[in-house]
Amino acid sequence: MLLFLLLLLSPLQWASAVVEDGLLNNGDFETAPPGGFPSGGGANGVGEGVATIPGWNIGGIVELVESGQKQGGMILIVPQGKRAVRLGNEAEIRQGLGLEKDYTYAVTFSAARTCAQLESLNVSVGPASQAVDLQTLYSVMGYDAYAGAFKAQSDDGEDDVLAFRNTGMEDDPTCGPIIDNVAIKKLFTPDKPQDNAVINGDFEEGPWMFPNETLGVLLPTNLDEEISSLPGWIVESNRAVRYIDSYHYDVPQGKRAIELLSGKEGIISQMVETTPEKQYNLTFTFGAAGDSCQQPLAVMAFAGDQAQNFHYSPTGNATNQVANLTFTARAERTRIAFYSVYYNTRSDDRSSLCGPVVDEVRVWGTSSAAEMRACFVGFLSMLLVVVMVLV
Ligand SMILES: *[C@@H]1O[C@H](CO)[C@@H](O)[C@H](O)[C@H]1NC(C)=O
Ligand SMILES: *[C@@H]1O[C@H](CO)[C@@H](O)[C@H](O)[C@H]1NC(C)=O
Ligand SMILES: *[C@@H]1O[C@H](CO)[C@@H](O)[C@H](O)[C@H]1NC(C)=O
Ligand SMILES: *[C@@H]1O[C@H](CO)[C@@H](O)[C@H](O)[C@H]1NC(C)=O
Ligand SMILES: *[C@@H]1O[C@H](CO)[C@@H](O)[C@H](O)[C@H]1NC(C)=O
Repeated sequence: MLLFLLLLLSPLQWASAVVEDGLLNNGDFETAPPGGFPSGGGANGVGEGVATIPGWNIGGIVELVESGQKQGGMILIVPQGKRAVRLGNEAEIRQGLGLEKDYTYAVTFSAARTCAQLESLNVSVGPASQAVDLQTLYSVMGYDAYAGAFKAQSDDGEDDVLAFRNTGMEDDPTCGPIIDNVAIKKLFTPDKPQDNAVINGDFEEGPWMFPNETLGVLLPTNLDEEISSLPGWIVESNRAVRYIDSYHYDVPQGKRAIELLSGKEGIISQMVETTPEKQYNLTFTFGAAGDSCQQPLAVMAFAGDQAQNFHYSPTGNATNQVANLTFTARAERTRIAFYSVYYNTRSDDRSSLCGPVVDEVRVWGTSSAAEMRACFVGFLSMLLVVVMVLV
């Protein structure tokens, strides 16, 4: 009886340890440490670090910075709310997560540079790590949201520890990156629709986005299609692409889409299943994001050995249009890919990167005459067998 109760209880206990989608425990660093926030902000705060931060383990000089706090005449950027953390040279923050083994999780966070030129963060979950380069400033706000993806590998979810580490070694040890708004999302890979060889072609499944994520989420280089924050797709270029939502941008369909940035330095691609020698059509919707991006906008699309430029020239009030490309598959997997033809910036600040939006990507086959014949012959022989069996 006791054993039975234990069996009944254990999965419940286990389930309660599983991390939920959204902001992590004190992921916004707004919870005061015991004894309160270090007082005075910049006056005595710079470079001194804190002893504890609720919800996190810390290593090295980690500071809680406050919005409005100055350093050398420069106001530090706090992406959201009143507080964020700054990591000094080789400093680290960690939080244990209850993850489910073999699932892929996306970690979203906001990060800002301070005084260093080359800032890079090492983000890891257990043994898997990703280097996120903060060198290029994508938005004029001075910070950006980024997402990385990790596969939960440990048998005990408690062993999955998320860590952010500043790998920099600056002369000024306080010139490290600022981190805020850390969230997680368990990803699933959408089923392939019957009439479409593209997985997640509408980009509806992706990393966590806060309802007020006005800058979208940057998806940095990720070459592993099995572990991608955008299921089905990889970002195969050096630069990031931006994952955007319909609350802050013009999204052609559904709630999510991709904005291509940095010209041919921002490429998304997918290997789709195809039948060799069969003809296919690739169609997609592309347009303007409604973020005052300076035109012209154009998308370069690839499908197998075909490549074509599509210029944005909407009719009437439309903010998007449909493009199509016909190709013949040469193998059982065919690469489709997109990048922005131009290197666009916004017309209001002339520095934030922007570009064309891509959505509703479809690849579907055209039954060739040969296939129809093969199909017909197959049907005839089946009919013959049935007739023979009956006779
Ligand atoms: C991140 O840091 C860990 C631990 O120091 C190291 O093993 C790993 O190679 C680093 N990852 C990257 C991508 O630099
Ligand atoms: C954004 O949303 C979070 C909760 O979802 C909230 O705590 C925060 O104050 C919001 N930030 C802004 C700038 O509205
Ligand atoms: C285009 O927008 C204008 C102003 O918003 C509106 O009056 C007009 O009906 C729209 N035209 C079409 C074809 O939607
Ligand atoms: C494909 O695009 C061409 C123009 O590029 C257009 O004329 C044609 O109607 C489109 N076909 C489909 C099936 O959308
Ligand atoms: C593929 O596109 C071509 C050219 O636009 C068109 O003629 C053909 O009907 C399309 N195939 C299918 C299956 O829609």
